[in-house]
Amino acid sequence: MNNDLLYLRQNIQVEPLFDYWYAWSHLIPPATAARNLTERHLKIMDSYINAPQVHANAVKNPKLLGGPFVDYGGKRVDEIKSLRDQTKRTRPHLMDLSNAIASLDDILRTQAKGLSLQPLYNLVPDILKGYVELVYDLNNNPSFRIIEPLLYQSRYYDRSAQSLALSVLTGDDRPFVLSTPRLESDSLFHLRLPFDDERVNELFRLKSSPRPWTEIKELLEAPEKLEPLVRSFLTPSPPPHYSSYQGKGMRWRYFGHACILLETAGVSILFDPVLSYTYESDVSRYTYNDLPDSIDYVVITHNHQDHVLFETLLQIRHKVKNIIVPPSSGGFLQDPSLKLILKKIGCKNVIEVGEMESVEWENGSISALPFLGEHSDLNIRCKAAYLVRVGNRALLFAADSCNLEPRLYDHLYHEVGDVDAIFLGMECDGAPLTWLYGPLLTKKIERAMDESRRLAGSNFDQAIDIVRRFNSKSIYVYAMGQEPWLGYIMSLKYTEQSRPIIESNKLIQECSKHGICAERLYGEKEIFIE
Ligand SMILES: [Fe+2]
Ligand SMILES: [Fe+2]
Repeated sequence: MNNDLLYLRQNIQVEPLFDYWYAWSHLIPPATAARNLTERHLKIMDSYINAPQVHANAVKNPKLLGGPFVDYGGKRVDEIKSLRDQTKRTRPHLMDLSNAIASLDDILRTQAKGLSLQPLYNLVPDILKGYVELVYDLNNNPSFRIIEPLLYQSRYYDRSAQSLALSVLTGDDRPFVLSTPRLESDSLFHLRLPFDDERVNELFRLKSSPRPWTEIKELLEAPEKLEPLVRSFLTPSPPPHYSSYQGKGMRWRYFGHACILLETAGVSILFDPVLSYTYESDVSRYTYNDLPDSIDYVVITHNHQDHVLFETLLQIRHKVKNIIVPPSSGGFLQDPSLKLILKKIGCKNVIEVGEMESVEWENGSISALPFLGEHSDLNIRCKAAYLVRVGNRALLFAADSCNLEPRLYDHLYHEVGDVDAIFLGMECDGAPLTWLYGPLLTKKIERAMDESRRLAGSNFDQAIDIVRRFNSKSIYVYAMGQEPWLGYIMSLKYTEQSRPIIESNKLIQECSKHGICAERLYGEKEIFIE
């Protein structure tokens, strides 16, 4: 039996963790990780320890979905306490870094008044000295930029915080992961490997290339008492064979949310990879089994947790030839370099493509177009819409672009001309600024500001305007977070009365009236284009 060849089952959930918290992109750069550690993780744990029942009640309240509440039903307080204590014991330097960032902000707020910043370098907290440059914008507003590649080389980037938690997943019901740390349990195998470890690739290759148990045991360093659990994650049954598209034009398939695979006979492109595992379900879908052996381009639209998902990226990394990302603004806390983040988690060939720049191949290209809004008016540059051309067809993947300024699309139309199909998110309510960026703020923001500056995508008026300006024959509303398997990263549950549904329904009706093919994607979809 030890020589039988075994695959990793297709329903083994692998959660990437950072000190037991679900790892997302801001937990890789030292500065944003430090701020999230002190302002999100420790605060949530402290609050739970003080009032577990408040959390238990809040988790049950649909209005508070995605809020900072631990989902353990008021139980396991001792374990949360020991996690908090362990975090404080093992990460004092990250806590110092977080405090240093707050002090630096304070120094700039109180002392940088438009005169030379040179004297302030003496006041920069010692641990940040040499890692930051102090700057003004043209209106004398002071700020600092982090010299990110150097800070990653310091003790503040510590891969020992990273690990992977393996367990069996049998259905769509996964609790929201961003507010609750993952505690140990008997059904979970905790693999203590940093994300960039080559063995992570070997683990996920096991989904398609089997190996004998003796080798797998060694690879995962499974202690003897956990061998039965790890063995239960494996199967002798191979996955179904995947047939890549070999037709003339192209085929695209919707995998849920903003994840779309576009294939021609020569090129495969996967947008915003967020994949479902494979298990029995009423909602039909494409899953990990529906990917080609090799993906030419993974393309990322922006650095939000529902578009940059490590859980998927790590599992497909070994198949991916290139990753296209938007460049960031260069060291501002709220806009860490996505290229560096992905390189740090072990991705190869990460290519930054700036606005109006393209990557080309025979018979096709991907061009990055400007993406306005949806980032609470923060100066965040790491975002792009993408125009894909194959032959004489043009498809626009606009993700959560908010049409704040229609004239932009006039200018773009002038450059790119008619577009055959547009994919656009219409999450037009959006979470308030602090939901995502709160831990980075070192001074409390007024409630009115927080409420007004949301992570909102286009509404009906803004969406129809884009469709009209590009003379598009098809519009697909996507990235709505509605698929039942996305609950763990989306803090949304829409009803027919929710504004994003009302607005997108309106768009679909209006487009249909004018002979434009319009649909809100859900679950799965496949289209062939000649
Ligand atoms: Fe977004
Ligand atoms: Fe989104």
